[in-house]
Amino acid sequence: MIRELQATRRDYEAYIKCKYKAGISKKIGEPSVNVLTEEKLPTFENYIYAFKQRRKNDDTKEYVYETDGEIVAMAIVIQIDKYASIQEISVIREYQLNGFGRKFYQELEEKLINDGVRTIFTKCFADGGIAFFNKMGFVGEYKMQKEL
Ligand SMILES: CC(C)(COP(=O)(O)OP(=O)(O)OC[C@H]1O[C@@H](n2cnc3c(N)ncnc32)[C@H](O)[C@@H]1OP(=O)(O)O)[C@@H](O)C(=O)NCCC(=O)NCCS
Repeated sequence: MIRELQATRRDYEAYIKCKYKAGISKKIGEPSVNVLTEEKLPTFENYIYAFKQRRKNDDTKEYVYETDGEIVAMAIVIQIDKYASIQEISVIREYQLNGFGRKFYQELEEKLINDGVRTIFTKCFADGGIAFFNKMGFVGEYKMQKEL
């Protein structure tokens, strides 16, 4: 089930696992590689503050995907009229390559269609990520798009 990210400790913990620890799917057919830098992870208090700031911008939506009571994935999407841009999509590392990304994407796309979106854009520079978006019906490399 897809829903919007919330200002709760549970969502904070999932957000950290997705946004900072899911790595990048650099290689075709392989799990993501870790790209965690020296960047400090936000504290829960920082997360709440940043969350409230981001909520002031109506165009940006953050979604999580829950299955069997567990949050396994997150996406950041900008929606403007008939257009949407997926800024980030990530599945928690231990759940990757098990079909959750596809299920999440499908529900996200359904939601965007219901919201009136007709074109989805994304940018991806990692070969494994490009392969994933190709499987989801996106065309192009690096700058990718899908007409709905
Ligand atoms: C990319 C990501 C979101 C895909 O989610 P996932 O749950 O691992 O992918 P799924 O298991 O649902 O795979 C869906 C399809 O994409 C393909 N796919 C996913 N990752 C792939 C990879 N690294 N290489 C090749 N194909 C891949 C799968 O083979 C599958 O195809 P199939 O249904 O024909 O078998 C996830 O692996 C992830 O979070 N990676 C780290 C973050 C990242 O790189 N995000 C993309 C930034 S551009």
